[in-house]
Amino acid sequence: MAAQAAQLEKVRDSEERYQLATYKKMPIVAERGTGVWLYSSDGEKYLDLYGGHAVAGTGHSHPHVVAAIQAQAEKLLFYSNLVYSEARARAAEKLISVAPPELTKAFFCNSGTEANENAMRMARMATGRENVITFSGGFHGRTADAISATFLGRYRDLGKPNVPGHLEAEFGNIESVRALADKTVAAIMLEPIQSMAGVRMAGSEFYQALRQLCDERGIILIYDEVQTGVGRTGDWFFARSEAGSHVVPDIITLAKALGSGIPVGACLVTEEISANIKENDLGTTFGGGMIAMAAVSATIEAIETDGMLENVRAVETYLRHSLKEIPYIVSVRGRGFLLGLEFHDKAAPIHKALLDRKIITGTSSNPNVLRLLPPLCLKREEVDLLVEALHALTNEL
Ligand SMILES: Cc1ncc(COP(=O)(O)O)c(C=O)c1O
Repeated sequence: MAAQAAQLEKVRDSEERYQLATYKKMPIVAERGTGVWLYSSDGEKYLDLYGGHAVAGTGHSHPHVVAAIQAQAEKLLFYSNLVYSEARARAAEKLISVAPPELTKAFFCNSGTEANENAMRMARMATGRENVITFSGGFHGRTADAISATFLGRYRDLGKPNVPGHLEAEFGNIESVRALADKTVAAIMLEPIQSMAGVRMAGSEFYQALRQLCDERGIILIYDEVQTGVGRTGDWFFARSEAGSHVVPDIITLAKALGSGIPVGACLVTEEISANIKENDLGTTFGGGMIAMAAVSATIEAIETDGMLENVRAVETYLRHSLKEIPYIVSVRGRGFLLGLEFHDKAAPIHKALLDRKIITGTSSNPNVLRLLPPLCLKREEVDLLVEALHALTNEL
């Protein structure tokens, strides 16, 4: 026990000595993972209902994804978009095959913020306009344009001086969008389910009204599906899903679970958008690299082969049903495996108490909401472990 504590302290001290602060860390030295389980270097086993910021969609170290990365690594680690690549051709074809049919072309980059920067740029190129409407509560990343589009807490101020041309509307309120959507507006961009804000969804009529408004006023609709994409909601994407009233945007942005842990982002766009893009308009050194592309193809294959979309839908129903037994949960928000548990009181003590019981969950910017973003392979037995732990907390809180 003393040796384990010493190991944690050693790694923590080293990380803190040689790196800048980022997030508040949990007292875990992560060593290996399999499916929904994360193992620490002291041999503890954690039920991971957060997936490292929603990245472990296929679960930790899915064998098919690992094998694909290993095989690619032995052939070629990287070459840029200056050459053709079978791995890239396959990944793009595979991704487009599961996308809404209106979205016919992909651009690969390395992260969510970069996907959003490029999406906004493409919208400006397509329309010749400059302004972008985003929503209070939305999070779009930390690079200059994306953080300027982020009207959530103190994030936008971290990016000062902000990029001009960003307008804030109220999520779920179409009149607030209508009032801003004049001829200067290139794009409306939204997280269709606002995750960091505490898993907020709008009414189905809101998504439809946005699509209609964009069509009427020549505005590009961008869905930031960095969290909702790649199976998280029980559909491949929120776009075109029943939950999203079958609305299809002009651009979808992706990252997080797309590479099962290998950094990769993407924009999926319509023919109309792609018609405006010429050589050298877009680019990035690492985007479309072979390892990332092997990970993308294998991620999609793993989700298909293991029936993960069906699993998300079935286990979501079970989870919602089981959570009804917990008296201190006010509501369960969200869709699929992007869920927010709303409590009467603060979520932080529950987050900590669950961690003490070796269950990892996520907080949000809503102090009363705990987020669950588990791997898409989460099973009923594992849900039972969460529900038992929440029951056990009933008398302690
Ligand atoms: C909805 C959404 N968009 C964009 C981003 C930024 O992605 P990245 O951290 O890969 O730049 C995030 C990250 O949390 C996100 O949740």
